[in-house]
Amino acid sequence: MSILLTGGAGYIGSHTAVELITAGFEVIIVDDFSNSSPEVLNRLKTITGQNIPFYEGTILDKTFLNNIFYENDIEAVIHFAAFKAVGESVEQPLKYYKNNITGTITLLEVMNAHKVKNIVFSSSATVYGINNISPLTEELPTSATNPYGYTKVMMEQILIDVAKADPEWSVTLLRYFNPIGAHESGLIGEAPNGVPNNLVPYITQVAVGKLKELSIFGDDYNTLDGTGVRDYIHIVDLAKGHVLALKQNLGAQGSDIFNLGTGKGYSVLELVKAFEAENHVAIPYVIKPRRAGDIATCYADASKANKKLGWKAQKTLQDMMRDSWRWQSQNPNGYQ
Ligand code: UD1
Repeated sequence: MSILLTGGAGYIGSHTAVELITAGFEVIIVDDFSNSSPEVLNRLKTITGQNIPFYEGTILDKTFLNNIFYENDIEAVIHFAAFKAVGESVEQPLKYYKNNITGTITLLEVMNAHKVKNIVFSSSATVYGINNISPLTEELPTSATNPYGYTKVMMEQILIDVAKADPEWSVTLLRYFNPIGAHESGLIGEAPNGVPNNLVPYITQVAVGKLKELSIFGDDYNTLDGTGVRDYIHIVDLAKGHVLALKQNLGAQGSDIFNLGTGKGYSVLELVKAFEAENHVAIPYVIKPRRAGDIATCYADASKANKKLGWKAQKTLQDMMRDSWRWQSQNPNGYQ
């Protein structure tokens, strides 16, 4: 029996593949390389010592997906495959709705046809929208401010409704806070296409000399130093959360939702200082106006995952800064 990872060559999927194999699961990866690289598979082989079965293609292709389910004995799916750039989703909404929503529906139809009814889904703290107050708990109302966020809200609803309609389904929604860091080998990490949108890849590309300086979006928020506060979580802690969520999912029915965060927020300036102190590299920055759609503060109440899954983030901010830098400095051009 295998666990199928859609988007398994991506940043979160690849780290989860490593932790699943370490925990004794057999893994199959499907990916279309729209935001990842075939080189990830070589790196995974070096880390795990295994040739992970791999299928290249899109989850929009039903025939392709069907074939994977015919050829393998799949027990459950962890569904990572989705587009995730907020700005691009505003410019090209149909691209996002088609890939994320239609892709998910196609996957669920194929799973249903093959009677594979266990799914763990990559959701995001973005579904808490802009009006909820941190610490964020799972039962708060969801909303969105951009097409990417709406796709996450809608995919969650689709999965909840599927589990309601058919009690054989077991659905686990994982709401990620801000994953950063990399596997401690430095072999896999986050490799964004083009100029990074997210803070830590931007910082590491400044550090490695690819970008001149960091723009800090706003220093007039109602936070300790005026810059935005987020709940940064080490990617390996996040990946381990998937293993525990999957184990719980395999013995459950219905749907459940878990935040995967540390429960602690750090500001942009705190992060910059922690990166400099840990790695002895200077990060020049300028203060810019606020970025549209950003909120002052976002961090998890992570107690439900602790109680029900026995999961808790272990790694420190220093670990996150060190591991992010090891990955970037060893791979200045990502997987290229
Ligand atoms: C962003 C997305 C969110 C998505 C998540 C994961 C937005 C508005 N939100 O979250 O929907 O789920 O990524 O991909 O895009 N910052 C800077 N300078 C930079 C980059 C970021 O100051 O160059 C600041 C931001 O203002 C924020 C913090 O750093 O305060 C974190 O930003 P980021 O890494 O983009 O994550 P989120 O905005 O939390």
